[in-house]
Amino acid sequence: MCGIIAAATDRSVGKLLVQGLHKMEYRGYDSAGIALHQEDGVAHLRTLGKVNLLEERMIQEKPKGKVGIAHTRWATHGEPSESNAHPHSSKNRVFIVHNGIIENYLALKAALSKKGYLFQSQTDSELIAHLIDSFLNDGKSMIEGMQALKTSLEGAYAIAAIDKEDSNYFYLARNKSPLLLGLGKDEYFAASDPLAIGELTNQFIFLEDGDTAAVSASGLEIFDENQKAVERNVTKIDISAETTSKGNYKHFMEKEIYEQPQAIRNTLDGRIGGEDVLENIFGEGSSKLLAEVKRIQIVAAGTSLHAGRVAANWFSAISQVPTQIDFASEYTYKNPYIDENTLLVTISQSGETADTLTSLRHAKNQSYLGSLTICNVPTSSIARESDFLLLTNAGPEIGVASTKAFTTQLVALMMLAMSIAKAKNVNPKLRTRIVTALRALPEIVEESLKLKKEIQEISPKIAEKDNALFLGRGMFYPIAKEGALKLKEISYIHAEAYPAGELKHGPLALIDENMPVVALAPESELAEKLISNLEEVKARSGTLYVFGDASSNMQIDSGKLMTMPKCDFLLTPILYTIPLQILSYEVALIRGTDIDQPRNLAKSVTVE
Ligand code: F6R
Repeated sequence: MCGIIAAATDRSVGKLLVQGLHKMEYRGYDSAGIALHQEDGVAHLRTLGKVNLLEERMIQEKPKGKVGIAHTRWATHGEPSESNAHPHSSKNRVFIVHNGIIENYLALKAALSKKGYLFQSQTDSELIAHLIDSFLNDGKSMIEGMQALKTSLEGAYAIAAIDKEDSNYFYLARNKSPLLLGLGKDEYFAASDPLAIGELTNQFIFLEDGDTAAVSASGLEIFDENQKAVERNVTKIDISAETTSKGNYKHFMEKEIYEQPQAIRNTLDGRIGGEDVLENIFGEGSSKLLAEVKRIQIVAAGTSLHAGRVAANWFSAISQVPTQIDFASEYTYKNPYIDENTLLVTISQSGETADTLTSLRHAKNQSYLGSLTICNVPTSSIARESDFLLLTNAGPEIGVASTKAFTTQLVALMMLAMSIAKAKNVNPKLRTRIVTALRALPEIVEESLKLKKEIQEISPKIAEKDNALFLGRGMFYPIAKEGALKLKEISYIHAEAYPAGELKHGPLALIDENMPVVALAPESELAEKLISNLEEVKARSGTLYVFGDASSNMQIDSGKLMTMPKCDFLLTPILYTIPLQILSYEVALIRGTDIDQPRNLAKSVTVE
């Protein structure tokens, strides 16, 4: 989704800003732009398409400056186009970049039009430049103008702005959209994503809602929502170039799939010991709180929601606690009934998903026992605003399609199920069994990655189809859903998932030789029933690609049975995710899609 970077330095700023934009490409975007102070005014360049095109324009036009702002846009209001790209300007004096959504933009646009401002774009962002210009005309300074924005703007915003008449500074304002400062030596940066400036500094300040800032190469001033000058804590975060580069892999997604054994080790590290999960791994006081939990409410989106659906089975079987699950985009607006001692659990890779964040903020005013999050980004809003937190420690996930974040979320959720059981003193033997199985998991996952060759054999057959069906029963239904989501988002093949037993209640009508069926058939009490469901597919000339274990005695005439390594049944959903990720990757590779940045998608979805 949209990305902001700004810098005030004593060196040439153009290249530095473009490098920052490249670092944010993974978020998904459709256009890019830059505005920087030059000796004779402001250089303002925007391009539709990739950051490389902006870079080419800069090589031709050679803008020179030391202070500037830049942006990658992911269209919300108005089509992807050069005129809708940021920065937007007001009378070539004030230039702004904006992340978020201005909810009252139509009313503000009408009021500014009445004042004579002309609009060049269809966006909700351009009015911010005009609004600041109108404040300057009223006699306000630039920082006062930034502060006055909050009296007019409704919605979420992170804004960076420059004023042509004030060439040493850039200015910031934040409300409900991430924005942080980076401190260098005689230079300062700002960005919506720490990865954008992670190679320039490891010292960050996270702005809070209502904050504004005035930044030059010689210093910065931060003001809180009451316009009072404030000091904010400096946080040290090391972002190595290695974690944000592809290494020898073709795509970030490929790298992230093969990193999973290590990512899982990192999630487990320091959280299990001896024969059980350790105390208070979700933060000080968490074990005491978990002892009181009577019900769990999970709120998440997309892949993270699938992790929650698997975990609901674990909360029931291991912790003896019932679970309710909701799409984050629906939860806040359904007027939820909250039972006594219900724990709110949010799950989010990015920690910035607006739907999930809105749910968390809404829940803060409800009668929950507390809020707990499973998150991969320690500095994110969800991580900071939750009462309790377990970081998945998967390392930055750059590919838009979530892979290692999902499997590590599952590991974290399993540890939550065990922590609740431990706090309530239930299922001690089962916990010991799971700890042993968790320790062995990274190696078994490593083993499952070796299925790549067999998956490469079947991938061309799926790549030539327009549809696919994924089947799983019980805990494997959410895994089938995750497999279908991965396939559709990166290869653009329409894919659906069903609990295998539902096939005969409708979707069987779709089965013919053009509908490949991918099935998950681990050994379980449902195995026989699943095999009967798969017979129904065979009888209708369907092609079956089955991932099963050595015990799956299936005869497949059309398709293939691929044998998975064995692991404790409760952990098999984690294991069976791996071949589905590889399958979607290999199919997308054949179809030649933009795997790391699939069309229309964004990594961190910061709008509702
Ligand atoms: C799919 C995917 C998305 C995200 C969803 C929530 O591969 O990555 O479905 O899972 O947008 O994002 P987070 O987990 O950052 O809240």
